[in-house]
Amino acid sequence: MARVLTGIQSTGTPHLGNVLGAIRPAIDLAKNPENESFLFIADLHSLTQIKDGAQLRKNTHAVASAWLACGLDADRTVFYRQSDVPEVTELAWYLSCYFPYQRMTLAHSFKEKSDRLKDVNAGLFSYPMLMAADILLYDAHFVPVGKDQLQHLEMTRSVAQRINHQFDPTHARELLVVPEPLTRENVMLVPGTDGEKMSKSKANTLDIFADPKALKKAINKQIVTDATPLEDPKDPDSSVVYELYALLSSEAEAAEMAAKLRAGGYGWGHAKKALLEAIVDGFHIERERFAHYMAHLEEVEAVLQKGAEQARETAGQTLARVRAEMGY
Ligand code: ADP
Ligand code: TRP
Repeated sequence: MARVLTGIQSTGTPHLGNVLGAIRPAIDLAKNPENESFLFIADLHSLTQIKDGAQLRKNTHAVASAWLACGLDADRTVFYRQSDVPEVTELAWYLSCYFPYQRMTLAHSFKEKSDRLKDVNAGLFSYPMLMAADILLYDAHFVPVGKDQLQHLEMTRSVAQRINHQFDPTHARELLVVPEPLTRENVMLVPGTDGEKMSKSKANTLDIFADPKALKKAINKQIVTDATPLEDPKDPDSSVVYELYALLSSEAEAAEMAAKLRAGGYGWGHAKKALLEAIVDGFHIERERFAHYMAHLEEVEAVLQKGAEQARETAGQTLARVRAEMGY
């Protein structure tokens, strides 16, 4: 049985792009009975950027509620909060002592973040070793990640191999499992309201969990359409309204909207209304469940606590092995 593990940043309520591009595919992957799945909220990593404790806690709850609302089955996935298993920070320390400083300085993500962020703290620099610990602590075989995380996976593999080499230079036995990245082919790219990739850093997101009024406002105000008169024919392919609608509806429904736009007499306002309905109706179960969890955080906490207990069991075993090898 392969163990598949991945971490989710807790930077706020997941948007439509996160739901379609990451949450749904990960939940589908977890349904495969041949895999054992571990999924955690990387709230220790969030501290590199978020210094307000209440905000950090709120983000974790919003992310956990969104995953549960989208159908994550916590009976089949070990679903936990990174900070509930503090063993990970101990392993991160051991890993740091086995990884060359020079190689750490070559991390693209640190360079990219240090150019962009005001708070360039040492945590941001050592981020990859904490991420390596997230993975190695649980003997993960496969790690689904976006392309931007591949270098972190390379560093994880490298530090595991260094420790394995120290443990047994003949490589007959391994102390740590060397993980493989899993990058999805044909990843869905959800456009934001401005037509660029939807991303929380670009203020072009749609929050599928927001109340219908706020969602309506976002769709009407943020999505810019051309001034073609109502009665004139319109090109569906030049519009993000149509693009988003097509992602959320059946082929027949999308074809119908395209035909109406091309025929004329159907305005962007109509298309926006259809998009709003597609989100509100299409995600009504997820929206209801999200509201339920956010109003009953004790249920979310209970799920995370159970996950943490399961995670700690595996973590304790790995750490015992590593401690013995290090001389502790
Ligand atoms: P953001 O770009 O909003 O900061 P993250 O980088 O935290 O989002 O991404 C979290 C997950 O959601 C990743 O797996 C990423 O590939 C996926 N994702 C983010 N934005 C989109 C999008 N517009 N379309 C498809 N997937 C996306
Ligand atoms: N760094 C990852 C990201 O930005 C999140 C993450 C933290 C992660 N630890 C992980 C992903 C371990 C996979 C495995 O998306």
